[in-house]
Amino acid sequence: MTDWFGDWADRYDAGLGAMGEAAAIDPVVDVLAELAGDGAALELAIGTGRIALPLAARGVPVHGIELSEPMVEQLRAKPGGNAIPVTLGDMTTARVDATFSVAYLVYNTINNLTTQDAQVACFENASRHLEPGGRFVIEVGVPDLQRLPPGERFVPIGVRDDYVGVDEYDVLNQGLVSHHQATGRRLSMPFRYVWPSELDLMARIAGMTLRHRWADWHRSPFTADSRKHVSVWQKTS
Ligand SMILES: C[S@@+](CC[C@H](N)C(=O)[O-])C[C@H]1O[C@@H](n2cnc3c(N)ncnc32)[C@H](O)[C@@H]1O
Repeated sequence: MTDWFGDWADRYDAGLGAMGEAAAIDPVVDVLAELAGDGAALELAIGTGRIALPLAARGVPVHGIELSEPMVEQLRAKPGGNAIPVTLGDMTTARVDATFSVAYLVYNTINNLTTQDAQVACFENASRHLEPGGRFVIEVGVPDLQRLPPGERFVPIGVRDDYVGVDEYDVLNQGLVSHHQATGRRLSMPFRYVWPSELDLMARIAGMTLRHRWADWHRSPFTADSRKHVSVWQKTS
Protein backbone atom coordinates (compact mmCIF):
# COMPACT_ATOMS: atom_id res chain seq x y z
CA MET A 1 0.00 0.00 0.00
CA THR A 2 1.59 3.28 -1.11
CA ASP A 3 1.70 6.20 1.32
CA TRP A 4 0.63 8.93 -1.12
CA PHE A 5 0.30 11.54 1.59
CA GLY A 6 3.66 11.12 3.37
CA ASP A 7 5.67 13.46 1.14
CA TRP A 8 3.37 16.41 1.64
CA ALA A 9 2.09 15.70 5.15
CA ASP A 10 3.70 18.92 6.39
CA ARG A 11 1.73 20.90 3.77
CA TYR A 12 -1.57 18.97 4.03
CA ASP A 13 -3.27 21.37 6.43
CA ALA A 14 -2.15 24.45 4.48
CA GLY A 15 -3.70 23.00 1.31
CA LEU A 16 -7.10 22.23 2.85
CA GLY A 17 -8.66 25.56 1.87
CA ALA A 18 -12.35 25.69 2.78
CA MET A 19 -12.26 22.07 4.03
CA GLY A 20 -10.01 23.22 6.86
CA GLU A 21 -12.30 26.01 8.05
CA ALA A 22 -14.74 25.87 10.94
CA ALA A 23 -17.69 26.31 8.56
CA ALA A 24 -16.83 22.94 6.99
CA ILE A 25 -15.64 21.14 10.12
CA ASP A 26 -18.28 22.10 12.71
CA PRO A 27 -21.23 20.40 10.97
CA VAL A 28 -19.19 17.20 10.58
CA VAL A 29 -18.39 17.20 14.27
CA ASP A 30 -22.05 17.94 15.15
CA VAL A 31 -23.26 14.87 13.26
CA LEU A 32 -20.51 12.57 14.52
CA ALA A 33 -20.87 13.69 18.16
CA GLU A 34 -24.60 13.00 17.99
CA LEU A 35 -24.04 9.55 16.47
CA ALA A 36 -21.34 8.72 19.03
CA GLY A 37 -23.68 9.52 21.92
CA ASP A 38 -22.04 8.30 25.11
CA GLY A 39 -19.77 5.96 23.15
CA ALA A 40 -16.46 6.28 21.35
CA ALA A 41 -15.56 7.01 17.72
CA LEU A 42 -13.12 5.35 15.33
CA GLU A 43 -11.76 7.46 12.47
CA LEU A 44 -10.45 5.43 9.55
CA ALA A 45 -7.65 7.41 7.84
CA ILE A 46 -7.44 9.99 10.61
CA GLY A 47 -4.76 12.03 8.82
CA THR A 48 -3.61 15.13 10.71
CA GLY A 49 -6.71 15.17 12.91
CA ARG A 50 -8.80 17.74 11.01
CA ILE A 51 -12.00 16.09 12.36
CA ALA A 52 -10.67 13.94 15.22
CA LEU A 53 -9.24 16.83 17.24
CA PRO A 54 -12.41 18.95 17.38
CA LEU A 55 -14.51 15.80 17.94
CA ALA A 56 -12.31 14.82 20.88
CA ALA A 57 -12.58 18.40 22.18
CA ARG A 58 -16.36 17.83 22.33
CA GLY A 59 -15.73 15.02 24.80
CA VAL A 60 -15.98 12.06 22.38
CA PRO A 61 -13.14 9.55 22.85
CA VAL A 62 -11.60 9.12 19.39
CA HIS A 63 -9.24 6.41 18.14
CA GLY A 64 -7.62 6.60 14.71
CA ILE A 65 -6.29 4.23 12.08
CA GLU A 66 -3.82 5.73 9.61
CA LEU A 67 -1.43 4.43 6.98
CA SER A 68 0.91 7.41 6.84
CA GLU A 69 3.33 7.93 9.71
CA PRO A 70 4.22 11.49 8.57
CA MET A 71 0.51 12.40 8.69
CA VAL A 72 0.31 11.06 12.26
CA GLU A 73 3.42 13.06 13.18
CA GLN A 74 1.54 16.21 12.10
CA LEU A 75 -1.38 15.18 14.34
CA ARG A 76 1.00 14.56 17.24
CA ALA A 77 2.49 18.05 16.88
CA LYS A 78 -0.89 19.72 17.49
CA PRO A 79 -2.37 20.58 20.89
CA GLY A 80 -4.28 17.50 22.06
CA GLY A 81 -2.78 15.37 19.30
CA ASN A 82 -0.83 13.15 21.67
CA ALA A 83 -4.02 12.25 23.53
CA ILE A 84 -5.56 10.56 20.48
CA PRO A 85 -4.47 6.92 20.12
CA VAL A 86 -3.65 5.97 16.55
CA THR A 87 -3.07 2.50 15.13
CA LEU A 88 -0.65 2.68 12.21
CA GLY A 89 -1.81 0.48 9.38
CA ASP A 90 -4.14 -0.12 6.48
CA MET A 91 -7.78 0.65 7.22
CA THR A 92 -8.83 -2.51 5.36
CA THR A 93 -7.01 -4.77 7.85
CA ALA A 94 -5.71 -2.85 10.89
CA ARG A 95 -7.35 -3.91 14.15
CA VAL A 96 -8.04 -1.91 17.27
CA ASP A 97 -8.76 -3.90 20.41
CA ALA A 98 -12.01 -2.07 21.17
CA THR A 99 -15.50 -1.47 19.76
CA PHE A 100 -17.09 1.85 18.93
CA SER A 101 -20.55 3.38 18.60
CA VAL A 102 -19.51 5.15 15.41
CA ALA A 103 -16.81 4.65 12.78
CA TYR A 104 -16.27 7.21 10.05
CA LEU A 105 -14.30 7.75 6.85
CA VAL A 106 -14.59 11.24 5.40
CA TYR A 107 -13.25 13.51 2.67
CA ASN A 108 -13.56 10.98 -0.20
CA THR A 109 -11.02 8.66 1.39
CA ILE A 110 -12.90 5.45 0.48
CA ASN A 111 -11.75 6.34 -3.07
CA ASN A 112 -8.12 5.95 -1.99
CA LEU A 113 -8.78 2.22 -1.97
CA THR A 114 -8.34 1.39 -5.64
CA THR A 115 -10.06 -1.98 -5.90
CA GLN A 116 -13.59 -3.12 -5.15
CA ASP A 117 -12.19 -5.86 -2.90
CA ALA A 118 -10.30 -3.30 -0.82
CA GLN A 119 -13.38 -1.10 -0.47
CA VAL A 120 -15.46 -4.10 0.64
CA ALA A 121 -12.70 -5.06 3.11
CA CYS A 122 -12.85 -1.53 4.51
CA PHE A 123 -16.59 -1.87 5.17
CA GLU A 124 -15.97 -5.24 6.80
CA ASN A 125 -13.21 -3.82 8.97
CA ALA A 126 -15.39 -0.86 10.01
CA SER A 127 -18.26 -3.21 10.88
CA ARG A 128 -15.93 -5.46 12.87
CA HIS A 129 -15.12 -2.48 15.12
CA LEU A 130 -18.75 -1.47 15.73
CA GLU A 131 -20.92 -2.34 18.69
CA PRO A 132 -24.26 -3.91 17.71
CA GLY A 133 -26.38 -1.04 16.38
CA GLY A 134 -23.27 1.09 15.81
CA ARG A 135 -23.07 3.36 12.78
CA PHE A 136 -20.57 3.71 9.93
CA VAL A 137 -20.43 7.10 8.21
CA ILE A 138 -18.88 7.89 4.85
CA GLU A 139 -18.52 11.24 3.08
CA VAL A 140 -17.69 10.87 -0.58
CA GLY A 141 -18.35 12.56 -3.91
CA VAL A 142 -20.82 11.23 -6.43
CA PRO A 143 -18.80 10.08 -9.47
CA ASP A 144 -18.50 13.10 -11.75
CA LEU A 145 -19.03 11.21 -14.99
CA GLN A 146 -21.69 13.62 -16.25
CA ARG A 147 -18.80 16.05 -16.90
CA LEU A 148 -17.04 13.53 -19.14
CA PRO A 149 -18.04 13.66 -22.82
CA PRO A 150 -18.28 10.26 -24.54
CA GLY A 151 -14.83 9.04 -25.62
CA GLU A 152 -12.95 11.56 -23.42
CA ARG A 153 -10.72 10.74 -20.43
CA PHE A 154 -9.69 14.08 -18.95
CA VAL A 155 -11.63 16.55 -16.82
CA PRO A 156 -9.89 19.75 -15.63
CA ILE A 157 -10.18 20.28 -11.89
CA GLY A 158 -8.30 23.57 -11.57
CA VAL A 159 -6.03 25.87 -13.53
CA ARG A 160 -4.22 28.74 -11.79
CA ASP A 161 -0.87 30.54 -12.25
CA ASP A 162 0.88 28.11 -9.93
CA TYR A 163 -1.26 24.99 -10.32
CA VAL A 164 -2.84 22.72 -12.91
CA GLY A 165 -5.08 19.82 -11.93
CA VAL A 166 -6.65 17.20 -14.21
CA ASP A 167 -8.67 14.09 -13.41
CA GLU A 168 -8.04 11.17 -15.78
CA TYR A 169 -10.87 8.64 -15.91
CA ASP A 170 -10.64 4.94 -16.71
CA VAL A 171 -14.33 4.12 -17.04
CA LEU A 172 -13.62 0.49 -17.88
CA ASN A 173 -12.12 -0.11 -14.44
CA GLN A 174 -13.98 2.56 -12.46
CA GLY A 175 -10.59 4.19 -11.95
CA LEU A 176 -9.45 7.77 -11.70
CA VAL A 177 -5.96 9.27 -11.54
CA SER A 178 -5.91 12.78 -10.15
CA HIS A 179 -2.95 14.70 -11.62
CA HIS A 180 -1.70 17.78 -9.79
CA GLN A 181 1.16 19.94 -11.09
CA ALA A 182 2.31 22.75 -8.80
CA THR A 183 5.54 24.77 -8.70
CA GLY A 184 7.57 22.18 -10.56
CA ARG A 185 6.20 19.17 -8.67
CA ARG A 186 3.85 16.56 -10.07
CA LEU A 187 1.62 14.26 -8.11
CA SER A 188 -0.57 11.64 -9.79
CA MET A 189 -2.72 9.85 -7.24
CA PRO A 190 -4.91 6.83 -8.09
CA PHE A 191 -8.50 6.47 -6.88
CA ARG A 192 -11.48 4.21 -7.41
CA TYR A 193 -14.74 6.10 -7.75
CA VAL A 194 -17.77 4.35 -6.34
CA TRP A 195 -21.53 4.71 -6.68
CA PRO A 196 -23.87 5.16 -3.70
CA SER A 197 -25.76 1.96 -4.57
CA GLU A 198 -22.49 0.03 -4.71
CA LEU A 199 -21.59 1.30 -1.24
CA ASP A 200 -24.97 0.07 0.03
CA LEU A 201 -24.14 -3.39 -1.31
CA MET A 202 -20.74 -3.27 0.40
CA ALA A 203 -22.50 -2.30 3.62
CA ARG A 204 -24.88 -5.23 3.24
CA ILE A 205 -21.94 -7.62 2.75
CA ALA A 206 -20.52 -6.22 5.99
CA GLY A 207 -23.76 -6.67 7.92
CA MET A 208 -24.93 -3.05 7.81
CA THR A 209 -28.08 -1.30 6.55
CA LEU A 210 -28.48 2.21 5.18
CA ARG A 211 -30.13 4.59 7.66
CA HIS A 212 -29.44 8.04 6.15
CA ARG A 213 -28.13 9.49 2.93
CA TRP A 214 -27.73 13.26 2.99
CA ALA A 215 -26.28 15.66 0.42
CA ASP A 216 -24.10 17.32 3.07
CA TRP A 217 -23.38 17.48 6.78
CA HIS A 218 -26.37 19.81 7.28
CA ARG A 219 -28.52 16.76 6.42
CA SER A 220 -29.87 18.32 3.21
CA PRO A 221 -31.87 15.88 1.08
CA PHE A 222 -29.79 13.82 -1.35
CA THR A 223 -31.05 14.45 -4.91
CA ALA A 224 -30.08 13.72 -8.52
CA ASP A 225 -28.12 17.01 -8.47
CA SER A 226 -26.11 16.24 -5.32
CA ARG A 227 -22.37 16.31 -5.92
CA LYS A 228 -21.55 14.32 -2.81
CA HIS A 229 -23.23 12.35 -0.07
CA VAL A 230 -22.93 11.65 3.61
CA SER A 231 -24.22 8.14 4.22
CA VAL A 232 -24.90 6.42 7.53
CA TRP A 233 -25.21 2.63 7.78
CA GLN A 234 -26.12 0.74 10.93
CA LYS A 235 -24.68 -2.59 12.01
CA THR A 236 -27.63 -4.93 11.95
CA SER A 237 -26.03 -8.36 12.01
C1 LIG B 1 -7.77 13.15 2.26
S1 LIG B 1 -6.84 12.60 3.66
C2 LIG B 1 -8.08 12.66 4.91
C3 LIG B 1 -7.50 12.83 6.30
C4 LIG B 1 -8.54 13.16 7.37
N1 LIG B 1 -9.51 12.09 7.51
C5 LIG B 1 -9.25 14.45 7.04
O1 LIG B 1 -10.46 14.45 6.93
O2 LIG B 1 -8.57 15.48 6.91
C6 LIG B 1 -6.68 10.89 3.33
C7 LIG B 1 -5.94 10.12 4.42
O3 LIG B 1 -6.14 8.73 4.20
C8 LIG B 1 -4.95 8.05 4.51
N2 LIG B 1 -5.04 6.74 3.87
C9 LIG B 1 -5.06 6.47 2.54
N3 LIG B 1 -5.17 5.15 2.32
C10 LIG B 1 -5.23 4.57 3.55
C11 LIG B 1 -5.36 3.23 4.00
N4 LIG B 1 -5.44 2.21 3.12
N5 LIG B 1 -5.39 2.98 5.32
C12 LIG B 1 -5.32 3.99 6.22
N6 LIG B 1 -5.18 5.30 5.86
C13 LIG B 1 -5.15 5.58 4.54
C14 LIG B 1 -3.88 8.96 3.98
O4 LIG B 1 -2.61 8.65 4.48
C15 LIG B 1 -4.42 10.31 4.43
O5 LIG B 1 -4.00 10.62 5.73
